[in-house]
Amino acid sequence: MSEAAQNGRQDQGLSALHHEIRRFEPPSKFVDQANAGPGIYAEADADPIAWWEKQAESLEWAQRWSEVLEWKVPYAKWFVGGKLNVSVNCLDRHVAAGKGDRVAFHWVGEPEGDTRTITYAELKDMVCQAANALTDLGVNAGDRVAIYMPMIPEAMVAMLACARIGAPHMVTFGGFSSEALANRILDGDARVVITADGSYRRGTQTALKPNVDEALKQCPEVRTVVVVRRTGQDVEWEDGRDLWWHDVVDRQSTEHDPEAFDAEQPLYIMYTSGTTAKPKGILHTTGGYLTQCAVTHRLIFDVKPDTDVFWTAADIGWVTGHSYIVYGPLANGVTSMMYEGTPDAGGRDRWWKIIEDYKVTILYTAPTTIRTFMKWGEEHPAGHDLSSLRLLGSVGEPINPEAWMWYREHIGGDRCPVVDTWWQTETGAIMITPLPGITATKPGAAMRPFPGISADVVDDSGHSVGNDAGGFLVLDHPWPGMLRGIWGDPKRYEETYWSRYPGRYFAGDGAKRDEDGDLWLLGRVDDVMNISGHRISTTEVEHALVGFPRVAEAAVVGASDDTTGQAIVAFVTVKGEVSDEENEGGALVDALRAHVAKVIGPIAKPRQIILTPDLPKTRSGKIMRRLLKDVAEHRELGDVTTLLDSTVVNLIDEQLQAGGTGEAD
Ligand code: WTA
Repeated sequence: MSEAAQNGRQDQGLSALHHEIRRFEPPSKFVDQANAGPGIYAEADADPIAWWEKQAESLEWAQRWSEVLEWKVPYAKWFVGGKLNVSVNCLDRHVAAGKGDRVAFHWVGEPEGDTRTITYAELKDMVCQAANALTDLGVNAGDRVAIYMPMIPEAMVAMLACARIGAPHMVTFGGFSSEALANRILDGDARVVITADGSYRRGTQTALKPNVDEALKQCPEVRTVVVVRRTGQDVEWEDGRDLWWHDVVDRQSTEHDPEAFDAEQPLYIMYTSGTTAKPKGILHTTGGYLTQCAVTHRLIFDVKPDTDVFWTAADIGWVTGHSYIVYGPLANGVTSMMYEGTPDAGGRDRWWKIIEDYKVTILYTAPTTIRTFMKWGEEHPAGHDLSSLRLLGSVGEPINPEAWMWYREHIGGDRCPVVDTWWQTETGAIMITPLPGITATKPGAAMRPFPGISADVVDDSGHSVGNDAGGFLVLDHPWPGMLRGIWGDPKRYEETYWSRYPGRYFAGDGAKRDEDGDLWLLGRVDDVMNISGHRISTTEVEHALVGFPRVAEAAVVGASDDTTGQAIVAFVTVKGEVSDEENEGGALVDALRAHVAKVIGPIAKPRQIILTPDLPKTRSGKIMRRLLKDVAEHRELGDVTTLLDSTVVNLIDEQLQAGGTGEAD
């Protein structure tokens, strides 16, 4: 197996396989659920195309498709010739069906007591107004609109308004830097940006608008910035370019005649880290994407629109937020939660208070958050009535069995099934997961492909590995929610995903089948790190570090971390000598960390930066990342005979042990 694969295998999850694997049978009260019966896998396997066609029929189409799938490797078209409007599917049809008074979502702001409850009818009106405003501002179908917003209702409204007029949105997570925002705006050539003055995080006001101002210095084509007033803080204003949301949206009519768009009309571009310094603009379209969001949300979370309160505790700036805060739940007409702040704002029990107050029934979050709650202690959830919960989900990174069990016991009261869901920005929606009531679960395993999805675990040469063996995860048939390409870069699309195993999608993840044939996801096998469930590329961070004038060379690795899954450790060589004065109290290291935060965003700040006179390289000059990872994780070093200068390693190791590094905040 290649070095990359070994890295992936070492990362996470595998150790769990050496323990006794527990198995939970599907709880009986889910077995008779209305949403899916045990025959579902057989039905989908027998004819996946027909099965997907049936799922698409649950949406409202203005025109039916002539063909379900057109597949010219690696380009898929789903529901060819079909026409629909995503926003109509998420809003109008529920209102038309008499469900206008149902709550679309309960929004909880970070400051205590700052809440809003928005029904489907109200949300539809807000979206129509925003759609009219965008049209007034000259946004046409196909134009890209950048969104850089906190977790406030207007963020969802902005996305749906874009969808309504066929203008693909490009949401950038509010925690990304102005530089990252500028790169995305330029790559996607967005001319309109929607943002807010700021937001609340951990009890303080954060500012967003200044980042936009900074970013736009590099983006001369942006003509309009629409700003939501969230905090009321002072903001710089550029007349002629900047407009208040309330000025341009509130005066609009709540009537909007929606156009039906082609099933392959772009819905959004979401940028995600790849193995180079430049993030990839992952393109998603409408008909297939919405079909898969809706059916996965309905079946995996067993949703009952009349009674459930569903909560994806993620940010809409990530794909999880797109598919399971916005599109899936709204397509299914479910009531959701949306929370602005951090889990510890107003106390470490903030989430549990929200669940108790709103009687949340389904919670979907990332393992990193679960591990943080474990660290904070079980007394926080124990102090609240969580009996409304009936199902728990996990996403974003491998979940270690301990965290899975803690989640089940301390949050789920030992009665809620836990569904570990594997998917990616590229897949658009969940791909590998148990189904509650149908599939047994095992702590740490994502179990099996969703009905209609085909996945395999293969070795280097592409052969299926069979049971009780590990390898690379591939998806061997197209699926409705799949990415339609990388914005502006078809070559990269073909090379990244479709060249390693021609005709099959290479996910970049290591996986294992256990002795029962159930799937375990083991983490990335490429140079992408997973920090708190966020994808960050080693190259991107290296690039940022090398951009600092004093830095000569940088190598970045993702070292395992008890809370964040992986943490960024950087090895840096500087030009010339570093004087004691220059790095007094770790000043240089601090400056480097701040620099990375400025270039990419605070989430990319290395946990540790190790200043070293040299980096370990092979004779051909390649940096030995695997070895650095071993150093960072204090592991026994393997074979270092290919090192040009093995003393380098000892030096680095000594530095690390001596703690001569910058520790994370
Ligand atoms: C990882 C997030 C193990 C994986 C939806 C994938 C997971 C990357 C799981 C995608 C899981 C996601 N178990 N690993 N249940 N879910 N991953 O694009 O490495 O932000 O390739 O999408 O997260 O991250 P992305």
